[in-house]
Amino acid sequence: MSSWPHKHIIDLAEFSLEDYQSVLELAKRFQSVPKSGARKLPALQGRFIAILFFEPSTRTRTSFELAAKSLSADVQTFSSSSSSLSKGESPLDTALTYVAMGAEALIIRHTCTGVPEQIAKALDKANKSTAVLNGGDGLHSHPSQALLDLFTLASFFQPNNPDISALKGRNIAIVGDILHSRVARSNLWSLTACGVNVTLCGPPSLLPKDFEQFVNNPPPGQLVDPIKKRGDISVSRSLKETLTDADAVLTLRLQKERMSQNLLADLGSYQREFGISHQSLEWCNKKIAVLHPGPVNRGIEMSSELVDDHSICLIEKQVANGIPIRMALLYLLMASK
Ligand code: CP
Repeated sequence: MSSWPHKHIIDLAEFSLEDYQSVLELAKRFQSVPKSGARKLPALQGRFIAILFFEPSTRTRTSFELAAKSLSADVQTFSSSSSSLSKGESPLDTALTYVAMGAEALIIRHTCTGVPEQIAKALDKANKSTAVLNGGDGLHSHPSQALLDLFTLASFFQPNNPDISALKGRNIAIVGDILHSRVARSNLWSLTACGVNVTLCGPPSLLPKDFEQFVNNPPPGQLVDPIKKRGDISVSRSLKETLTDADAVLTLRLQKERMSQNLLADLGSYQREFGISHQSLEWCNKKIAVLHPGPVNRGIEMSSELVDDHSICLIEKQVANGIPIRMALLYLLMASK
């Protein structure tokens, strides 16, 4: 495995194919490591990781904590409700406080786009060696979620060898509230990098047509795309057409908390047009996998029966895969230092 080139993990736009391969390779190895007890790996023994989530989370926060503990790191999970944020302390000063106490990695989630990057830049400017891992920021990026989705998809397509070769040439649909989804944005970088052709499907108010150009616009400051040839992105308004040729579908939560205006006439018609159910899966030409990052609005973006059908819906596998993927990320950022 070549040496890891990134100090921080903020956005998958900067990931090369070798980076994806390294993460999946390590995740495969870490899958069998127990989450507690004496058989934990000693890789990060004596290292201090702080989990600074300024926005609620169940899956990401808990699995980062389990991942860090599985590598024998010391972990502190910050609780915003009982912190000095209520006295007006900024996220940056909160982060600097943890760094002053010896944190070698900060895993940061914030409702505002750019907060993890802003903290990473401030740490670099202050010559601090602390790594920043983006646990989800605003509408921008959720890299660890997209990587665990990639691992789950590779494991579905190629159970004996879940690496990036399993993805090339596949047709994968992302359905629902793309506009408000940092998960969809990170998935667009990772899936197209691995040669997947992505169809985005949703109503115009939640899926502007210009998402077809999404990967042609790397983030400010990044001049070169590390991927030579990406898969295509297309936008569809028809769930039936989208599912017909799909090899897998990623459904997204309707993010009502991020909607500043009424973007849908009514939830019932959204559910009828874009909700995924056993009935809508009859349009598929083959047996496909259904993924969802969670939390799910049961009966809106996905039927409750489908959520509980683990022969099709891989939500449980996604959650389980979150731990080895996050172990891999922490290992890559910290173990060689
Ligand atoms: N998928 C995801 O980020 O879930 P949480 O908000 O529970 O972490």
